Amino acid sequence: MSEQKFRPVFIFIDTDKHASPFDILMTIDLIPDVVVLKYENVTPEDVEKIVYDALFPRGPKGIRFTKVFVNGRELETVDAIVEKIKKCMFPPFELSVIVDPRGSYTTASAAVVKTLEVLQKLGLGTIEGKNAVVLAGTGPVGVAAAWLYAAEKAAKVVVTSRDLSRAQKVASKINAELKTDVVKPFQARTPEEVGKAIEDADIVLATGAPGVQLLPLNVLKTYGKKVKVVADCNAVPPYGIEGLNPKWDGKEVVPGVYGVGALAIGTLKNRIEAELIKKALQEPKGIFDFRAAYEIGKAMLSITK
Ligand SMILES: NC(=O)c1ccc[n+]([C@@H]2O[C@H](COP(=O)([O-])OP(=O)(O)OC[C@H]3O[C@@H](n4cnc5c(N)ncnc54)[C@H](OP(=O)(O)O)[C@@H]3O)[C@@H](O)[C@H]2O)c1
Repeated sequence: MSEQKFRPVFIFIDTDKHASPFDILMTIDLIPDVVVLKYENVTPEDVEKIVYDALFPRGPKGIRFTKVFVNGRELETVDAIVEKIKKCMFPPFELSVIVDPRGSYTTASAAVVKTLEVLQKLGLGTIEGKNAVVLAGTGPVGVAAAWLYAAEKAAKVVVTSRDLSRAQKVASKINAELKTDVVKPFQARTPEEVGKAIEDADIVLATGAPGVQLLPLNVLKTYGKKVKVVADCNAVPPYGIEGLNPKWDGKEVVPGVYGVGALAIGTLKNRIEAELIKKALQEPKGIFDFRAAYEIGKAMLSITK
């Protein structure tokens, strides 16, 4: 009797009303024979039913062809869903789970890798011991980027917000997860307060909402005396950092400050996401989130440290 053949199946679990076509289309283009199932408006309470019914029908041999992709705008709900999925799995009934809420984890990974690449090209070493500032670091991109800078042993990671309590919440979460105290909250409502936030920064990453300028050029010139690298995730004008063209990839913004724009980050983000999907397809199990995405990004740019 010939061995049963299993088609790859990707189950998209989305917390939003409408699942994003972005990741679904990318998956279909990468894996032509893939079958896509999508569940929308999913809450953590719904997860057990969906995941248990995905774990068992194909048996231990077939399960390695079933993958889950968790998506959605609400980071806390996404986190709660991932925790529930982990609790549902046990050997040999385990799956590969990709987590990239609205592209934020692959974007954050690409942004941090690009700033590291610029540091290395300038001969300034790694992130370890540097001061990083994540402007408007309270959204999904900013939180993952701040986590990665802290995990890379930055001396200090400042997370700014218009509301100190939001920045405090992000800092406390990352510090607790990484057992550190390097992540510091900072309230920045005015350009001058943003200036104060970047005064001793080596790296400044802007992760503000689309179309919001966070760092005017005169503030960068006045306060950013130590800054070597700036990067911006916002591709919608006005961009997050004035004077930083979204296409620039390591070009000097002001003398001594090198910038990576949102489209340069976005190009790497798409490559990282494609590789994340392929890796999750190959591997029988595992959580493929911003940590895995960051390692993929580093390998793509041949960064070994
Ligand atoms: N290339 C890609 O594929 C891709 C994928 C995902 C995201 N992105 C981009 O990455 C950036 C970050 O994404 P995200 O989803 O993390 O962003 P987000 O959650 O929409 O916003 C991030 C933070 O911006 C601050 N903010 C919002 N409105 C503001 C305003 N009017 N003035 C000042 N600050 C404001 C808020 O911080 P506080 O309220 O705490 O101040 C918010 O938490 C966005 O520009 C997004 O377009 C790109």
